[in-house]
Amino acid sequence: MPTITQFRSWQDLTAHADATRTLHLRDLFAADPQRGERLNAEGAGLYLDYSKNRVTDETLNLLLALARETGVEARRDAMFAGEKINVTEGRAVLHTALRAPKGATVLVDGRNVVPDVHEVLDRMAAFADQVRAGSWLGHTGRPLKNIVNIGIGGSDLGPVMAFEALRHYAQRDLTLRFVSNVDGTDLTEKTRDLDPAETLVIVSSKTFTTQETMANAQSARAWLLAALKDDAAVARHFVAVSTNADAVQTFGIDTANMFGFWDWVGGRYSMDSAIGLSLMLAVGPDHFRELLAGFHAMDEHFRTAPLEQNLPVLLGLLGIWYNNFLGAQSHAVLPYDQYLAYFPAYLQQLDMESNGKHVTLDGQTTDYQTGPVIWGQPGTNGQHAFYQLIHQGTKLIPADFIGFCQTLNPLPLEGAPHHDLLMANVFAQTEALAFGKTLDQVLAEGVPADLAPHRVFDGNRPTNTLLADRLTPHTLGALIALYEHKVFVQGAVWNINSFDQWGVELGKVLAGKIVPELHAPSEPDLHHDSSTNTLIRRYRTRR
Ligand code: F6P
Repeated sequence: MPTITQFRSWQDLTAHADATRTLHLRDLFAADPQRGERLNAEGAGLYLDYSKNRVTDETLNLLLALARETGVEARRDAMFAGEKINVTEGRAVLHTALRAPKGATVLVDGRNVVPDVHEVLDRMAAFADQVRAGSWLGHTGRPLKNIVNIGIGGSDLGPVMAFEALRHYAQRDLTLRFVSNVDGTDLTEKTRDLDPAETLVIVSSKTFTTQETMANAQSARAWLLAALKDDAAVARHFVAVSTNADAVQTFGIDTANMFGFWDWVGGRYSMDSAIGLSLMLAVGPDHFRELLAGFHAMDEHFRTAPLEQNLPVLLGLLGIWYNNFLGAQSHAVLPYDQYLAYFPAYLQQLDMESNGKHVTLDGQTTDYQTGPVIWGQPGTNGQHAFYQLIHQGTKLIPADFIGFCQTLNPLPLEGAPHHDLLMANVFAQTEALAFGKTLDQVLAEGVPADLAPHRVFDGNRPTNTLLADRLTPHTLGALIALYEHKVFVQGAVWNINSFDQWGVELGKVLAGKIVPELHAPSEPDLHHDSSTNTLIRRYRTRR
């Protein structure tokens, strides 16, 4: 099999990168005064300005040629058609079916799964309506006003991110907590002020075998039973979200109180399955459906828009340009909205668990870079923490800026309202990163010659700006789906399987072996390396 580095478009891009390496955004904008009006695209309510990237029209054409030569469109169509593109696990990849409207048809092994999806959504909605109305009563007859979601990774990050993002739409008399870490501190701190008689626990786990989630679920049950003193209480206070009905039953949760999903939904792509139950409880079924409609709008955009105007394709290819041809190691995501505080953390799993791979679909070690390090935090806070390095450090860090034209919390101020201050920073940062400040400009400002080098900004730091009108459930769905499909495009170009995560397994297996060694009554026969053995011995003597 030829590797993608032998493809014509890859070799053209390599030569083109060498020829254009010193091109500056100042020159690109000077040569084309309409660049900002030209290099943008729109879809599903999101506007992308990608003009502040270090690309010419030729770069874009070559990147699009790479997408075509690597078969991105055929891979996309295979995903939407339910083909088993997750080859190492023999599974279809159909998170897009989770947001398909009623009446659509998506076949998995000849069965239309859309009615199944809507059957679960309807059950979730009926349950959510009861809890939200106070008519689902706990064991002692009191309504449940606290919801504790226990899950980790994809069974936590999506709901916690979306709950924070959509807090504006949440029913405020419900308290939501998310427990994920096996560190007992997490469960202890998140439940210490809750009354078990008024608390609903959602155990969210696709496999229902994950060590952290099972440990937290057991301790949460003990916490509940210590207060309510009756095993029958579990039925009113515990529900499960899982694909594993047997394990749910073994744990002691009635499968009548289980909300299912399917093996064709990957953990990190599952927040719009029943894994979103906690979110639905918080924001209500109507807002949840609006979120799904936003996902679906972006799915349709990705499926049908020409590659030249296709947002996930453009973001994916621009990332590949920096990652594979200009040597960038990481990618920053910088939402200018406090509600999106958890969005970078959510994207870390989505992107890094998907594309942190070094073996191609046909089992060869890649001779090229794959997934970047994803990081970020909301602006403007990040500006006072790590932006210095982006502006004047030695590393190339492409960044996505995300902002909204309207705020959900208008705070007027004399001079300019808070939201104008916030958005002025978005525009100022991307302008400064692109254009910087030359030595001549610095000297012209009267800065002494010996200080001038410190005040020079090279600029030429690439950014994308994503703008939407307002943070609504629909916008959030579109935004998440945009990144899901961006990750897909990159994985397709790199010819890797974005839908397995074998790399997480080794640590899990080793931890399972070490647990009994830590509390064995006598000194265990340790067969690890000398570092691990010494650490275990020290811990054993001091625990
Ligand atoms: O981190 C590995 C992983 O398998 C993720 O892919 C997944 O989201 C997470 O663990 C939780 O898995 P589960 O939902 O089965 O508990």
